[in-house]
Amino acid sequence: MTLRGKRALVTGASRGIGKALAEALRAEGCEVLAAARTEGRGVLRCDVSVPEEVERLRARTGPVDLLVNNAAVIHEPAPLVDVPLAEWRRLFDTNVLGMVAVLKAYVPDMNARGAGVACNLSSTWGRSVDARQAPYCATKWAVEGLSRALAEEVAEGVVVLAVNPGVVATDMLATCLEGAIAGATPPEACAAAFVGMLRRVTPAWNGRSVDL
Ligand SMILES: NC(=O)c1ccc[n+]([C@@H]2O[C@H](COP(=O)([O-])OP(=O)(O)OC[C@H]3O[C@@H](n4cnc5c(N)ncnc54)[C@H](OP(=O)(O)O)[C@@H]3O)[C@@H](O)[C@H]2O)c1
Repeated sequence: MTLRGKRALVTGASRGIGKALAEALRAEGCEVLAAARTEGRGVLRCDVSVPEEVERLRARTGPVDLLVNNAAVIHEPAPLVDVPLAEWRRLFDTNVLGMVAVLKAYVPDMNARGAGVACNLSSTWGRSVDARQAPYCATKWAVEGLSRALAEEVAEGVVVLAVNPGVVATDMLATCLEGAIAGATPPEACAAAFVGMLRRVTPAWNGRSVDL
């Protein structure tokens, strides 16, 4: 994929991997639209768990060539039976239904043009599990499933990927590893690997689960 001149949307771009990726894509010559719940310099307000906010974002940005569905939340580690249902809902509302809302807003344009790349952020915990991480694991397994199903439906030329960024030193990692993040990849290095992966993407990659 040639990145220069492409329009890209990165959700969850106020910090962590999303912020670093938005900056790296700008450096590659992309026109980057960054969104998050926290509005700020160069970041548009959009809580992906609120369908009306996703519709407003789509109306404001128009279609994009590259969609990075990066926004997600995590919980404090705890056994499945101890996590309140409201916390399960909070995770599914952002990590799964929020991602679906964004895909519903942007993939139809990609289908109409027969071009576009949608990257859905997955995790090692979308392909394996650990104790005390059930809600987050369940959302990321859902991301893998919906990405592969969507890949079966998109127009020829459109690419849907589930992307595992690895273990990256962010607020989210600090929460799930209870602060033990020494040795994790810096977000900027993760973003550089992401850009390298995007440069190599071809239509034949549609439906792949990718590790950075
Ligand atoms: N860090 C890792 O090691 C790791 C490993 C595997 C997978 N991942 C995945 O990589 C992605 C980025 O993770 P990260 O570590 O960078 O997390 P992070 O540091 O916690 O950042 C998450 C980003 O998502 C935004 N966000 C959260 N809820 C949102 C919502 N409802 N609507 C819009 N934006 C929302 C946050 O901004 P606001 O609070 O301003 O909205 C923030 O910009 C996630 O999908 C995560 O599951 C990360």
